[in-house]
Amino acid sequence: MCSDVSPAKRMNLAVFLTADGNYHHLGWRHPDAVVDGGSNFQRWIEFAAMAEAGKLDMLFVADQIAIVGGDELEAITNSSKVNRLEPVTLLSALASHTRNIGLAATCATSYWEPYNIARMFASLDHISGGRAGWNCVTGGQLEEAQNFSRERHEPHEVRYERANEFADVVMGLWNSFEPDALLYNKATGQFFDPAKIHTLNHRGKHFQVKGPLNVSRSPQGRPIVIQAGGSDATVAMGSRIADVIFTAQADLAAAQEFYGRVKDAARRRGRDPDSVKVMPGLSLFVGRTRDEARAKFDALHHMVDVRDAVEGLGRLLGGVDLSGYDPDGPMPALEGNDLRMSGPGTFVRIGRENNYTLGQVAVQAKAARNHCMVIGDVMDVANHMEHWFRNGAADGFNLLPAIMPNTLRDFCTMVVPELQARGLFRTEYEGTTLRQVLGLPQMV
Ligand SMILES: Cc1cc2nc3c(=O)[nH]c(=O)nc-3n(C[C@H](O)[C@H](O)[C@H](O)COP(=O)(O)O)c2cc1C
Repeated sequence: MCSDVSPAKRMNLAVFLTADGNYHHLGWRHPDAVVDGGSNFQRWIEFAAMAEAGKLDMLFVADQIAIVGGDELEAITNSSKVNRLEPVTLLSALASHTRNIGLAATCATSYWEPYNIARMFASLDHISGGRAGWNCVTGGQLEEAQNFSRERHEPHEVRYERANEFADVVMGLWNSFEPDALLYNKATGQFFDPAKIHTLNHRGKHFQVKGPLNVSRSPQGRPIVIQAGGSDATVAMGSRIADVIFTAQADLAAAQEFYGRVKDAARRRGRDPDSVKVMPGLSLFVGRTRDEARAKFDALHHMVDVRDAVEGLGRLLGGVDLSGYDPDGPMPALEGNDLRMSGPGTFVRIGRENNYTLGQVAVQAKAARNHCMVIGDVMDVANHMEHWFRNGAADGFNLLPAIMPNTLRDFCTMVVPELQARGLFRTEYEGTTLRQVLGLPQMV
């Protein structure tokens, strides 16, 4: 393989899976799609094997701790997202069925305590031999708040204030043990060296956590930390503590702007900008020909009910009621306080640039939310990825497979070989830990 891209700087690729695995809202209805991924572990073994054969960096399990829309179950009977395995439990089991692929999951800072998270992900890092990643988003949906004794979410800025302190506590707890703290000395009876286990004694605004953690230092030094979002708060927090930032960017200009902001912020904090990997989402429909790819998209698109799509778009905007707006009218600029997949600007822009009505924007959002979407042949997809990668928009991508296992299989068997032939993507895993695979600085 001859390439101007050094191995340490090759593209990083994650696959985003949640609930049943199908990213498209109606993906489960496709004749080939898996329908029982929400509780059939065997499916996940197959998904992981496919992603690992494609040499992807990591399998990422997104999560919500609620049935979203659960107030009106009759209205969401077409949603496959009502059934999902708890992600860390799932990944702990998957660790035994995989060797190289990173295993990352969301645990939202609004609904956990830092000690639980530090302990769970340090354990996963041990169990998987150094392949754990924690997506430390703030979460979530109104329905999640209601499952945790609250009526509403905290405002965005309060959620991030708590999240920042939360992450500091988790990272502090992960430093409890020095690498050689455990002595296991049967002769002297000394199991550990007390000078090498540190008590955190954190007393902050949101948390009082004494420590130390009761799990030893994990194989990666600490698990990989991921932050997902797009706001200033995400940039500030991600550039401070994250190894990886997942983000939704609908087009090249927006992605470049976000990428630049993250890298500048990291530099200002004295971090090597290469140590924060920015990975925008990519929804893709790939075929051997463009017509075949378009047919794959249309097969899903035609099933979408516009009213249903408009309601879903209201949720993506943070809990906005769009029922009074004309689906044939323009996309309105609105946003609410619940989880926002992005500000209203992105959807307004998608509408304006494509000359789409509110209804058409909503239907596209069913396939890609506000992520970038590519429909094309192998060269189209590889060209798109290379263009973003080489032009300051992405260090890699978070793949959003509309239909499982088809979309992931298409990607791994058609696009990965092309990226490898261009020298943009690995042909073998670089190491056994996720940190090594991502090309991040090693920690002891
Ligand atoms: C790729 C990606 C994955 C995400 N995964 C989750 C998730 O699993 N659970 C969750 O509650 N939010 C998730 N989010 C939402 C973010 O946490 C965030 O709320 C949203 O992107 C809005 O960003 P902001 O908070 O920076 O405005 C994800 C976002 C992105 C872009």
